[in-house]
Amino acid sequence: MTSAIQALAFDAYGTLFDVHSVISTCNQAFPEKGPALSQLWRAKQLEYTWLRSLMGRYEDFWQVTESALVFACRSLNLDCPPVTRQKLMDAYLHLDPYPEVVQALQSLSRYKLAILSNGSPRMLAAVVEGTGLKGVFADVISVDEVKIFKPSPRVYELAPRHLKIAQDAIGFISSNFWDIAGAKSFGLWTCWINRAKAPEEELGLRPDAMIGSLAELEEALRKADSSRTTR
Ligand code: 2OP
Repeated sequence: MTSAIQALAFDAYGTLFDVHSVISTCNQAFPEKGPALSQLWRAKQLEYTWLRSLMGRYEDFWQVTESALVFACRSLNLDCPPVTRQKLMDAYLHLDPYPEVVQALQSLSRYKLAILSNGSPRMLAAVVEGTGLKGVFADVISVDEVKIFKPSPRVYELAPRHLKIAQDAIGFISSNFWDIAGAKSFGLWTCWINRAKAPEEELGLRPDAMIGSLAELEEALRKADSSRTTR
């Protein structure tokens, strides 16, 4: 019989905080180029984390995010002097939470809550503070501790280590399917937030639950616990 879920670890960027809330700052710097720049910036940021992990050439998420921005601007022929780059990077410290996040987290207060993210400690502290979520999380866990990015199992192992709870009693929530696959592969219970109604990736792993918004998480957990604890 598997134990009931006692703790929840959340991905940060794309799950709790909207990475594309930088579009307005991008548009100020490069009128009408905001959406294209934000999309390429995010895609390159993630690609660089995977490449650096495979090469064993870790740099923290702030540096990787800045490198991705430099590439994205060059690729789109956007002249991005240091002062503009600094303004765009600063926007990454002040991302908006998705609309349902604050209330949903408050309804989950009976669980031990954590963040488990690629973000550097400084980035995560800033965005948690800036969205008024300081004190909601028992722990804010950064991959910087193990100097490798998701979906390395060494990252997900930080959850039971920090939370001091058995991995099968920890739920992991992310909007990034590849992140869900990594957590599932490691052995966490997983819930995919699929806001975009995207198809599942072909990675040989499936989430334990799928929701369209964090507001649906409480019900997904209730269903999971009733099926897990009766087995
Ligand atoms: C995070 O780790 C995957 O970037 C996402 O917060």
